[in-house]
Amino acid sequence: MMTEEDWFMAGIYIHIPFCKTKCHYCDFYKSTDFGAKTDFLSALKKEIEWRKRELDGERIGSIYFGGGTPSVLKIEEIREILSLIEVDYQLEKDVEITLEANPDDLTDSFLSGLKTTKINRLSIGTQSFHDHDLKSMNRRHNSRQAINSIKAAQQAGIQNISIDLIYGLPNQTLADWEANVEQAVALDVQHISAYHLTYHEGTVFYKYLKSGKIKELPDELSLDQFKLLLARLKSAGFEQYEISNFARNESYSRHNKAYWERKKYLGFGPSAHSFDHKTRRWNVSSLRKYLQAIEAETSFWETEILSEQDQYNDYMITSLRTKWGISRSYLHANFEPKFHHFFQEQAEKYLISKHMRFEDDVYRLSTEGLFISDKIMEELFYIE
Ligand SMILES: C[S@@+](CC[C@H](N)C(=O)[O-])C[C@H]1O[C@@H](n2cnc3c(N)ncnc32)[C@H](O)[C@@H]1O
Ligand code: SF4
Repeated sequence: MMTEEDWFMAGIYIHIPFCKTKCHYCDFYKSTDFGAKTDFLSALKKEIEWRKRELDGERIGSIYFGGGTPSVLKIEEIREILSLIEVDYQLEKDVEITLEANPDDLTDSFLSGLKTTKINRLSIGTQSFHDHDLKSMNRRHNSRQAINSIKAAQQAGIQNISIDLIYGLPNQTLADWEANVEQAVALDVQHISAYHLTYHEGTVFYKYLKSGKIKELPDELSLDQFKLLLARLKSAGFEQYEISNFARNESYSRHNKAYWERKKYLGFGPSAHSFDHKTRRWNVSSLRKYLQAIEAETSFWETEILSEQDQYNDYMITSLRTKWGISRSYLHANFEPKFHHFFQEQAEKYLISKHMRFEDDVYRLSTEGLFISDKIMEELFYIE
């Protein structure tokens, strides 16, 4: 249950733009050249300091190290970044601090080191528990390492663990996927993110798809995988709080939740985004340009002032697929009548077809609605 106080909490995202190798599906900004890591860390610290006034004393409820691969940082480097943030920003007492980690980096010494820092949540990029999937994705770990890294993190005393899985993979059978979900449940983690594979332009998988080397999974099989995921995780006590996110005992990711609740956040590092209700800013997706600009003290970002139409469309994107849904009073309080009239008109047929429900002032997708959420989203978008 969110209190009014929570509403004012902001978030911090830190993009660590290094990966030891590149996975075939991934289009997050990263470099495999670690030569500039020291320069990057100095530049990052400058950005953290320079932007301290942007949140104007607002308290920080979550910090998220994403990537790239934040687990390539040394414990000392993580500690230094966090200490600097603590000096320059006002952190909540129970601030949630997540580190994204690759299974092959989670050695016993790294994990015991992490326990001496303020990191209190790990998001482990497992992706699959099948060696053939991991190989085809060009992951650096195998299935045994994925399982062992999760158990090792638990044994090290990290209590809040999330794992990432990908379904809809080329050639992935329903039985393959079922075994992944079973294994995830058996590991007794607090949170699971399960994403359907997206073919991003520029990735190896995209190239393979275009050349016919791999084929997209048939829609019916993808849908069956999604249905299986929902049913199995529900029976294992996970609550689906967003289309791809599942939590036990309300262990929602505060970072994601803040994003969906349209709280302010600052993003540091190349390609990181920031949001302050009225504007979006995105840092340049180039480590070289980022370093040069910080050195020269010039700008390294673009800013977009959000029109009312952008803000309405943003609200649709961030709310529709969550269990918190779209609030009618929020729509009425924040948008001109033409937007809520448009919404109501568009939503009507989905309320009749039961893809959407309206309860306690909130519009939410039903399970059937989640299956066609892309289509519904498209129709709720206001384009002048
Ligand atoms: C920033 S990425 C990876 C973090 C970490 N470096 C790792 O590989 O474990 C966060 C998550 O997004 C998901 N992801 C990335 N690209 C994807 C794609 N094309 N389709 C579906 N999921 C994707 C993966 O599950 C991944 O773990
Ligand atoms: S999935 Fe993770 S490790 Fe793989 S390329 Fe993307 S950010 Fe790097």
